[in-house]
Amino acid sequence: MLGTFLSIMFIVLLPMNGHGAESLLKLLGPNIKAKAEDVVCLQCHPDVSDNTMNYLHYPAGVGACNYCHIARPEHLQGDNPPESVSINRTSENCYNCHDRKDEKPVKHGALADPESCIRCHNPHSSNTRHLLQSDTVPTLCSTCHRNTVVGKSQHGPAIKGKACIHCHNPHSATEQKLLHRPAKELCLSCHNEEIKATLNDSRIIPNIKKKLELTGVHPGANGTCLDCHKPHASDNLRLLTARWSVATYNQYSEQQNPYGLCFTCHETDMLQQSDFETKTGFRDNHTRMNLHWFHVVDAAGNTDKSRGRSCKICHDPHGAPQAHDINSAWLMNGNPIPIEYQVIESGGQCTKSCHSLRVYKR
Ligand code: HEC
Ligand code: HEC
Ligand code: HEC
Ligand code: HEC
Ligand code: HEC
Ligand code: HEC
Ligand code: HEC
Ligand code: HEC
Ligand code: HEC
Ligand code: HEC
Repeated sequence: MLGTFLSIMFIVLLPMNGHGAESLLKLLGPNIKAKAEDVVCLQCHPDVSDNTMNYLHYPAGVGACNYCHIARPEHLQGDNPPESVSINRTSENCYNCHDRKDEKPVKHGALADPESCIRCHNPHSSNTRHLLQSDTVPTLCSTCHRNTVVGKSQHGPAIKGKACIHCHNPHSATEQKLLHRPAKELCLSCHNEEIKATLNDSRIIPNIKKKLELTGVHPGANGTCLDCHKPHASDNLRLLTARWSVATYNQYSEQQNPYGLCFTCHETDMLQQSDFETKTGFRDNHTRMNLHWFHVVDAAGNTDKSRGRSCKICHDPHGAPQAHDINSAWLMNGNPIPIEYQVIESGGQCTKSCHSLRVYKR
């Protein structure tokens, strides 16, 4: 009955209404009324429209039980014999008043259950916005999905605020994995400005989108962020998919590679002293020196090999202002040390940096 009424209204009003049917529902709310036989229900079931709850579901709140329950007369005597009152748990019943939630091509597996809506929504009332069955979104999701946000590093938006809903549509979506937008676009919709991190280490996270627009963009960051990061949590720092030390100095060994992440795509040959002739462009043929080996493994000649230079002193995993993804500065105890790099014919040179002018030629 109401369904028919709604469909007529949709045909008439939808083209004029940018917000679609859900806002129409607000207009129609007042038409959902308790019938005479509903009035008695609340005498025995007062908790159904419990005003102490933060959110009441409109039809339950106005006592319009009949949209979901039909009681036979004997039920109203109060002894509740079997089948004396029906409970319509189906999603289809919800769709009599609400927009369909399963129309986008990627559907949440949860909706396959014909009674799915009430797994997540309380049909009467709730203390959580959107009548959710749990206090928070992650607890709701974790009734079916385990260990999503467990790990050595965790992602702020997966835990705080709208949590999972920042990125996923709980019903259906146009993107794979129910994402609101393609993954990279989604990541950059927040990482398009500096962010104050509080969760793992307090620091200012730089604007990643800006780095991808720099001359020395890392070609490895052209794909999706998920090549290197997990979206929820990880057993590696910075949500990375493989081992990575955030320190600027590390001892390098192939077994305990502090830069394992880089070598999921690059070859460790570039760090072999003997492989200088072909495996890296960062070499000087005159002195027969592999300069990657020299800085990273040989700690720039330091006897203390734990002073090996991290890739991140010279390169940024996302992108840097100079050619070959070379940083214009690196931070030593928070103070920027400039790096002025230039490409020259068959080589390069560092003018202002950790040392005075050095040139390499192949
Ligand atoms: C005179 C008291 C009384 C009235 C009036 C009454 N009920 Fe009930 N109802 C009960 C009792 C008792 C039970 C069983 C115990 C319980 O669940 O609270 C029950 C159970 C129910 C159940 C759960 C049935 C199940 O299978 O688990 C629903 C749904 C329900 N009532 C809806 C209604 C609706 C809708 C109305 C009004 C049309 C209504 N009741 C009127 C007393 C009443
Ligand atoms: C939008 C649909 C809807 C409306 C409106 C509604 N109910 Fe329900 N009700 C349900 C569903 C669905 C369940 C079963 C919940 C479950 O199994 O988790 C239920 C369960 C119940 C139960 C069983 C105990 C419980 O709380 O789970 C009672 C009693 C009940 N309703 C009474 C009422 C009364 C009285 C009204 C009117 C004031 C009402 N309901 C309005 C959908 C509705
Ligand atoms: C008789 C019509 C009707 C039925 C049936 C109905 N609803 Fe509603 N529902 C409403 C109205 C009206 C509102 C209030 C809309 C508003 O103010 O935006 C509402 C609000 C909601 C909200 C909160 C929306 C928000 O923006 O926070 C949720 C969630 C919801 N309903 C879920 C359900 C589910 C799940 C079912 C099936 C168990 C269901 N509804 C069945 C009419 C209905
Ligand atoms: C897996 C859990 C889950 C299931 C299943 C689910 N919902 Fe939701 N629903 C949510 C969450 C979480 C939100 C809050 C979304 C937000 O904050 O944007 C929501 C929001 C809503 C809203 C208000 C906002 C909107 O999108 O219009 C309505 C109405 C609603 N759901 C109806 C339904 C109906 C009808 C069904 C069954 C077909 C259903 N939901 C199934 C989790 C679920
Ligand atoms: C009632 C159980 C249930 C709840 C609650 C639930 N889900 Fe699901 N979810 C499923 C099922 C079932 C699948 C399909 C599983 C599969 O295909 O392996 C699924 C699949 C998914 C997928 C897609 C997985 C893929 O590989 O395509 C995402 C993303 C997802 N759920 C997110 C959420 C979020 C976010 C929440 C909380 C708002 C949530 N789920 C709550 C049952 C649930
Ligand atoms: C920052 C955005 C973001 C947040 C927040 C987020 N997810 Fe995801 N989620 C993703 C992306 C991106 C994928 C796809 C991963 C892939 O394809 O490898 C995904 C995949 C999933 C999957 C599919 C299985 C898997 O792990 O690949 C499930 C289930 C899921 N998320 C549940 C959740 C739950 C539950 C929450 C909240 C605790 C949540 N997500 C929060 C972005 C997010
Ligand atoms: C080639 C691998 C790789 C790709 C692809 C990648 N990242 Fe990173 N990301 C890293 C590494 C390594 C770090 C840790 C840097 C450090 O130690 O300072 C990092 C750190 C971050 C940080 C934290 C920065 C900080 O200073 O704490 C954010 C945010 C981030 N990445 C976002 C993104 C986004 C968004 C994308 C997709 C556009 C992306 N990343 C693609 C490797 C990658
Ligand atoms: C809804 C906004 C939002 C989206 C979308 C988002 N992020 Fe974040 N991200 C944040 C915030 C906020 C933090 C800082 C959390 C904190 O530490 O307080 C953060 C932190 C990070 C960090 C640093 C984690 C650490 O260990 O400190 C990485 C890496 C990161 N995001 C990558 C991504 C990637 C990859 C995506 C896409 C899959 C993405 N982000 C999508 C808001 C977002
Ligand atoms: C997902 C794969 C992937 C990962 C992981 C990856 N890279 Fe790359 N990287 C590439 C690709 C593809 C290129 C372009 C082809 C080439 O030079 O091998 C590239 C090129 C480079 C270049 C040369 C840029 C230029 O303009 O000459 C540098 C420097 C670099 N990567 C550094 C790193 C560092 C440091 C890490 C670890 C933080 C890393 N890469 C991790 C894929 C990756
Ligand atoms: C002292 C600065 C410095 C450090 C530390 C450094 N690189 Fe480089 N890297 C360079 C320079 C300069 C080039 C450009 C070489 C050229 O002229 O083609 C380069 C080039 C590269 C290239 C392009 C291919 C090649 O070998 O020429 C990759 C890939 C690369 N670096 C990865 C890394 C990785 C991974 C690390 C850490 C394990 C690292 N770099 C550490 C300075 C450095």
